[in-house]
Formats: sequence, C-alpha cells, structure tokens
Amino acid sequence: MLEKANTYVEEKKDTVKKRWYPRFHIAPEIGWCNDPNGFSEFGGAYHLFYQFYPYEPKWGPMHWGHVRSRDLVHWERLPAALAPDAPYDAGGCFSGSALERDGQLCLLYTGHVDVKKVRGEPDRIESQALATSQDGVHFEKYGKNPVITLPEGISTGEDRHFRDPALWERDGRYYVVVGAQTAKETGEILLFTSENLTDWSFVGVMAAAEGNEGFMWECPNFVEVDGHEAIVMSPQGIREEGWRYRNLHQSVLMPGHLDYKTGRFSRESFQLLDYGFDFYAPQVLQKKDGRNIFIGWLNMWEGAHCEQPNGWCGQMTVPREILWRDGRFVTPPVPEILSLREQEMAFMDSTLAAEETLSLPEETGEILLCLDCKDAAIFSLSLWDGEGELTTLSYDKGEGLLRLTRPDYKKGTGREERVAPCEGGTLSLRMFLDRSSLEIFVNDGEAVLSERIYPRDTARSIHIAGRGSVSMKNARFYTLGSIFEA
Ligand code: FRU
Repeated sequence: MLEKANTYVEEKKDTVKKRWYPRFHIAPEIGWCNDPNGFSEFGGAYHLFYQFYPYEPKWGPMHWGHVRSRDLVHWERLPAALAPDAPYDAGGCFSGSALERDGQLCLLYTGHVDVKKVRGEPDRIESQALATSQDGVHFEKYGKNPVITLPEGISTGEDRHFRDPALWERDGRYYVVVGAQTAKETGEILLFTSENLTDWSFVGVMAAAEGNEGFMWECPNFVEVDGHEAIVMSPQGIREEGWRYRNLHQSVLMPGHLDYKTGRFSRESFQLLDYGFDFYAPQVLQKKDGRNIFIGWLNMWEGAHCEQPNGWCGQMTVPREILWRDGRFVTPPVPEILSLREQEMAFMDSTLAAEETLSLPEETGEILLCLDCKDAAIFSLSLWDGEGELTTLSYDKGEGLLRLTRPDYKKGTGREERVAPCEGGTLSLRMFLDRSSLEIFVNDGEAVLSERIYPRDTARSIHIAGRGSVSMKNARFYTLGSIFEA
C-alpha cells in the first residue's frame, strides 16, 4: 500500500493546480493533509510527518506524509512513511509522535479500525502502534503491535476514543499522553510510561474536562518551558461563549504541574493557542536543548477548503515557539524563519488620514507594522485582493479588544481576543501572508490569529481606517523565499 501511494504521488503530482498553493508553508504535493505528526529530530535533521490521503483532496484512510529539514525553514520531501496496511490500523494510521532511541527514529501512532456501528457498542477500535527506522526514511511496523491498548477498568464513552499519543523522555524513562473520553462523554488525557517504548504501563488519568471544555480531547502534548509546564491539546465540542470559542474546534494551552508519581496534572487555566479561524491539532517538538517548537494544521474541519477542486487540500502553519515571557506563555514564530527573508521594502512612516490604502509589492511575504492608535479609539486593518475585502482585523483601544472578521465563505464570521497595547500605546503586528493563508502575530506572539484566505487575484493591499488618527511606525514588507526547492 505504501509503494502504491508513493507511486501515485510521483505519477500524479503535476496534475495539481497551484493557484492557492503555499510558497512558504508545508502542504501535500497532491491529495489531503490534516494534523502534523512525528515532529522530531533525527540524524541531524528535523522530521515532520502529517496525516495524509494521497488519492483525493479529502479525508480518507490515513497515511503518514513526510518532510525533512536541516534548518526548520527549508524542507525536502520524502516518500510517505506509513500506510494503513496492518489489521490494527486498517482504518488509518492516525496521529502520533516520534523520538530517537538507540539510533532509530521511533514513531508511535494510533491504529484506527472502523467497526460497524451497533447501538451501545463502539464504532471503532483505537490502539497505539510502534514503527521504527534506521535511516529515518523507511519504517517498519513493530511485529507485536499494538503496544498500548485502552486500559481495563477505565470507563469510557460509547465509542472508546483513544488516540494521538505524544511521547517525551525524562530521566531515562518514556512517557506518553493519549487523548480519550470519559463515560460522561467529556475529554480526558491518559498517561502511560515505559522503559523501552514497547512495554507500557498505565499511570492514570492525567487531566479531564471540567464544564464547557469539550467532549473529546484530541492531540495532547506535554511541554516544559523554563520549568513551567503545560498541556497543549485540541478539545472538540466546546460551546460558543459570546465571541469566544467560535471555531468548530479549538486548540488550547493549559498551564499547570505534572506529578509524575500520581500522574495527575494540576491545572491553572485554560487559554486558546490561536484566535483565528483555521488552526488545529498543533504538535510540539520538545528539543533536547529545552526549546519547544510547534506546527499546527492551518485549517479547520468543515472549513471552506476552496483548494479542493485544485487537487490538494490543507497546509501547516509556520513553525512557532512556546516561550515563557513576563509570567505567561507566548507563541512567536521561530527566529529561524528570518532566513527566508529576501528583499526588504520599507513603507513610509506616516500619520494616516482617516482612511488609507497601502498596496503590497508582492502577492506573498511578511508584513511588519507598528500601529499607534493614541488618537484613535478604534481602528481597523483589512486585507484586500484586487476585488474586495478578504479579512479584517479591528482594534478597540478602550476595551483592549482585537477582533478578526471575514466577509464570506464560512459560517461564524468573527473571533475576538483581549490584547493590551505595548508600552507607548502601540500594537505591533507581524503578518505572514501566503497564497491562501494569513498568520497574524500580535505583540510578538502574545496573541496569534491564523486563517485561510482565498483571494480572487494576485493583487494585495491593506486598508487602514481609524476613528481618529492612527500613526504607523517601522512598517516593512519582506519578500520570502520558497521553503521547497523548485
Ligand atoms: C485530529 C484528528 C485526530 C486523529 C486524526 C485523524 O484532527 O481527528 O484525533 O488522529 O485527526 O486523521
């Protein structure tokens, strides 16, 4: 099945239409991708895998696509690494993680099997399976898979959701968190430990949903940043609360502390990791040097997916980093991404008239703007293509509210977050504009808003309008190189 998939990709990839295909984001050459998987370091390189269905630009029995990078910025495509060809993963090689052990790259993923639905019985069997590689390119599934099954005595929801293992190592032992569901059909995370990646024991329920925190917790990660611990995960089914939680599903960061003896994580808060429309299933790489880098899926289930008729669907975010700054977690883009910059083009610093239009020199690139709204109570910044508005970011200084709205192609058109201006009353925006995506980093990662956009042509401009005057400082535009060799 793997050979068939890789041959298909080679033979058919040139049929894909590149109109909205990203210049500096990872996307499948053909077919569908969702979650990032197996983000790891091996053989002096970064490896990233992703949920992949090569044959159609829509979700299907999952394979693992694969790319590799020496610098976290430029990537090389490798053949798909896993196909759903074993009895325990026949319905798909679902999400999972990776790490190096004894010179091998080890993948731990969810084997998913569909079972015909009978009322009161699960519609699936999910278990965790291991695959290893000597060269980081060709993988062999472990002969005694699955290595982790749902523990006896754990009460679960009817469908026995049990997936998305995320590995880490601490003091010579391995740990893994797996997303699951309680009998009351609320999300939870189970913790397991092992000395060798093959024999696992169940430690306990690490964390569970409280109140409106979702019916299933997908894609959990455990992170430790300068001694501050957190769970990063993607809860499904949180109900909308005003302008909050307006995505179909969210991705959150829960600061807290893990007691390794009891396996309990005492949590402190529950905060969103991204305030845009299209962001899900982030996977964190905990590097040996202590850095925590993550990539998310820059899409949302049931999103517009306008690229589907072009033969591909789905892309990743730029790599971002989790940092601890001034008593809180923030998520700026990794500094390595500076190496993508090619030409710098300065805009003029100016006090803007009530309404101003800045034409962007290129279709894609990085935009830096520092907006001082000292005389403006409210201002908005919209991105346009040649025909009209694609999306609008507005800021109400009095309320400290930042709101993202978009005009069309999806139900639920607004999202909102509270952001304090920087010292001196400015709001700093760093925006990565690709052919069909926009990622906005506010105040160097204090808040991030990501979304897919579908411009009708290649002209780009920014319209800024304020009630009162807005002045713009340090405005720059950088053209960015491609992340894949042509
Ligand atoms: C999250 C998810 C995971 C699962 C995978 C299947 O987007 O639903 O829970 O492993 O996608 O493709």
